[in-house]
Amino acid sequence: MTALISPSILSADLTQLGAELQACEAAGADALHIDVMDGSFVPNITFGPDIVAACKRATSLPLDVHLMIVEPEKHLKAFANAGADILTVHYETCPHIHRTLQTIRELGVKPGLTFNPGTPVDALEYLADMVELVLIMSVNPGFSGQKFIPQSIEKIRRTRSILDAHGSKAIIQVDGGISAATIRANYEAGARNFVAGNAVFKHPGGIAGGVRALREALG
Ligand code: DX5
Ligand code: ZN
Repeated sequence: MTALISPSILSADLTQLGAELQACEAAGADALHIDVMDGSFVPNITFGPDIVAACKRATSLPLDVHLMIVEPEKHLKAFANAGADILTVHYETCPHIHRTLQTIRELGVKPGLTFNPGTPVDALEYLADMVELVLIMSVNPGFSGQKFIPQSIEKIRRTRSILDAHGSKAIIQVDGGISAATIRANYEAGARNFVAGNAVFKHPGGIAGGVRALREALG
C-alpha cells in the first residue's frame, strides 16, 4: 500500500480554512485530519462538530476526526452526522472501548483507536478485529509543532505484528512531529498513514511544497 498523507488542520490558517482545504486537495493529500480537543483530556481546546460539517462542505477528501476528549461516546453521533469518515478515540478515555468501537461502526463510520506515547498497545490483542485504523501518537497530544518521540518507531513495529497475528488489515497512522526527516523510519516500521500539521501548513514551499517534501522523503 502506498503512503497516505493527512494534513492536520490544527496548523492551517483558520481565517482561510476553505482555501487551505482546497490547496490540500490540489496538492494530492489523501484525507484531512481534524483534531478535536476538549481542554480536559488535553490542555488545548479546538474544534467541534460544526467545523467538521464546514470542512465537509469545503472538500471531498475523507475527514479523519481525532477525538481527544473525555467521554467521547457522548459525541460520536454528532461527529458522524457532521460528516466524519473516520472517528478515532483514545484508549485512555474509553473504559468500555469494545462497546465504543462497536458504536462507531454502527454509525457507519470507520473506527480508529489511538494510544498516547506512554500507553501500551497490548489491548489490541483483544480489539484487532474491531478497528480499521490504529493511531500511534508520536507526541503527547494537545499541540502541533512538537518534537517526534523516537520510541514510537518500536511501538509501530509491535502494533503491526499484533495486527498481523490477528489477520487484521487495519492501517497504522502516526501523528506528531512527522516531517521529511522523520517520516521514512515510520514507514519502514509499518506506518502507512501520516498526519502532518506544521510540515504541511508551515512549509516554506506552501501546502503543495509540504506534501511533496513528505512524499519525496519516502522515496
Ligand atoms: C497533536 C495533534 C496532531 C498535530 C500534529 O495533539 O493530534 O494532529 O496537529 O501537528 P505536527 O505535525 O505539527 O506535530
Ligand atoms: Zn491528531
